[in-house]
Amino acid sequence: MTAEKREGVSVLFVCLGNICRSPTAHAVFRHRVDQAGLSNQIKVDSCGTAHWHVGEPPDSRSTAEAAERGYDMTTLRGRQLQTSDFSDFNYILAMDMANLSNVQVQCPSDYEGHLGLFLDFAESINEREVPDPYYGGDEGFGEVLNMVETASDALLEAIVKSGRLHAAD
Ligand code: 4NP
Repeated sequence: MTAEKREGVSVLFVCLGNICRSPTAHAVFRHRVDQAGLSNQIKVDSCGTAHWHVGEPPDSRSTAEAAERGYDMTTLRGRQLQTSDFSDFNYILAMDMANLSNVQVQCPSDYEGHLGLFLDFAESINEREVPDPYYGGDEGFGEVLNMVETASDALLEAIVKSGRLHAAD
């Protein structure tokens, strides 16, 4: 691996269970990155702050809604946030304030990456939190996808503009 690749961009999406919101963001953002031809330069992953769904596939309602819009979530499996994530990812983006707080508690004081809310990249979205759809109806999963699609476009634009990527190879 070259030094350039080690310094490349890596994005970790974080929610509570890692079966609804963050895997949705993982699949949508990965799709955007692939379409932009940047998958060799931007690593994408997701995790939960809770351990409850470690090893499980995403919620079938998330997977179905995503598939309708052309995103594949079937290979994703739940995992929990771990200490090494702070050395492995330079963008750690939480879906809501509660999970951001949980990540902040675990974050080393010398972390030099960007730790914040995913939706803060999307100026066109008034809310700052992606609502938890787990206990709600199917429409909540569509709403999550709408927000995630908009924020993914904004995040990719911000990363491209940051100048952290090297010229296409
Ligand atoms: P997520 O949603 O954080 O978007 O994955 C949830 C998934 C599971 C639970 C809560 C939220 N749960 O209580 O098991």
